[in-house]
Amino acid sequence: MADGTTWHASDIDHVIISEEQIREKTAELAKQVAADYSDAESILLVGVLKGAVMFMADFARALGRVGPPVELEFMAVSSYGQGTTSSGVVRILKDLDRDIAGRHVIVVEDIVDSGLTLSWLLKYLQSRSAAQVDVVALLRKPDALRVNVPVRYVGYDIPSEFVVGYGLDYAERYRDLPFVGVLKPSVYGRG
Ligand code: IMP
Repeated sequence: MADGTTWHASDIDHVIISEEQIREKTAELAKQVAADYSDAESILLVGVLKGAVMFMADFARALGRVGPPVELEFMAVSSYGQGTTSSGVVRILKDLDRDIAGRHVIVVEDIVDSGLTLSWLLKYLQSRSAAQVDVVALLRKPDALRVNVPVRYVGYDIPSEFVVGYGLDYAERYRDLPFVGVLKPSVYGRG
């Protein structure tokens, strides 16, 4: 495109969190976690596919620089139904590859919206006898504040609108954008 943006980025109406803000906040969160976990032998980061991949990759590297050694695990879970009231019931599509008993676990989340997925996941990880389970989320929406889900480390509280980029998708697209933004209304329903 003439203005140097790709067709993909030109679908964005406005940027909410810039690439630089993400970088700075990620380093800041890593420092907080490193300070709180200075006595831990290692930290097991658990990322939820697919949205958390970008943040997981950057956060793990930031934490590895300033904190204890990190190990990475991924889980995949199905969403809890479409357009119906959320039951909070989640199906595991990909489970942890190892035992987490006695481990210091930090769930790495891209965004906490209703908080239902996270709430279920925390119970699940606790049932697998982790020594400690905390959460770091880059983004949090206001609805998340209504449910009792403890997110110890939060990057940014954002308005309740649909966002894409930095792992977050609309119809599986825009995950690769290096920033978080809102789509132009014309993009919806384009199919
Ligand atoms: P929750 O269970 O409602 O907190 O949301 C779980 C998942 O929904 C998140 O991990 C995201 O993958 C997805 N999600 C929530 N809000 C957005 C958004 O604004 N854009 C893209 N995905 C979202």
